[in-house]
Amino acid sequence: MQDLDSPAAIDGFIDRFYERVLADPLLAPLFLEVARVRLTEHLPRIKAYWRKMLLGDDSYRRHMMAKHRAIDSRRPFTAEQYARWLLLFEQSLSADYRGPGAERARQLARRIALNMRRNLESTRVKTQNINEKYAVTN
Ligand code: HEM
Repeated sequence: MQDLDSPAAIDGFIDRFYERVLADPLLAPLFLEVARVRLTEHLPRIKAYWRKMLLGDDSYRRHMMAKHRAIDSRRPFTAEQYARWLLLFEQSLSADYRGPGAERARQLARRIALNMRRNLESTRVKTQNINEKYAVTN
């Protein structure tokens, strides 16, 4: 068992997490068909994001919420997808990592997923209200 306390450990963890995500029928299509990510670009960004969150470096400088909002507006994330994302994250963690860094990653993932869900769902309600008010059809 190792902790998530170095760039190499974080990179390895993300590779394992994404092995699960990309094999998952609920999540894989969002990445491969809706967002059509190029893994050679996407994975280094996810790794940089978690290095920033866990090690405090500044290698990630993008707007991750805007990316999720764009996907959510095309194909709204479901409760099952949030739950699955978190489950796979937790499974990947508890299979191979232990320690304060791993614990922090677990807490952050839960908190950010919850905030993301609230934020995206409230944006969705507002957009729906505006569309109704001005009778926008799409
Ligand atoms: C239901 C749960 C989630 C799903 C289905 C999901 C799905 C996705 C997808 C499809 C992308 C690619 C977006 C694009 O390139 O257009 C993405 C990017 C990303 N996701 Fe998530 N995500 C989820 C939750 C989270 C959470 C909770 C975090 C952080 C704790 C996170 C961190 C990121 C980051 C850092 C990116 C890279 C954005 C960029 O290109 O800079 N995701 N996600």
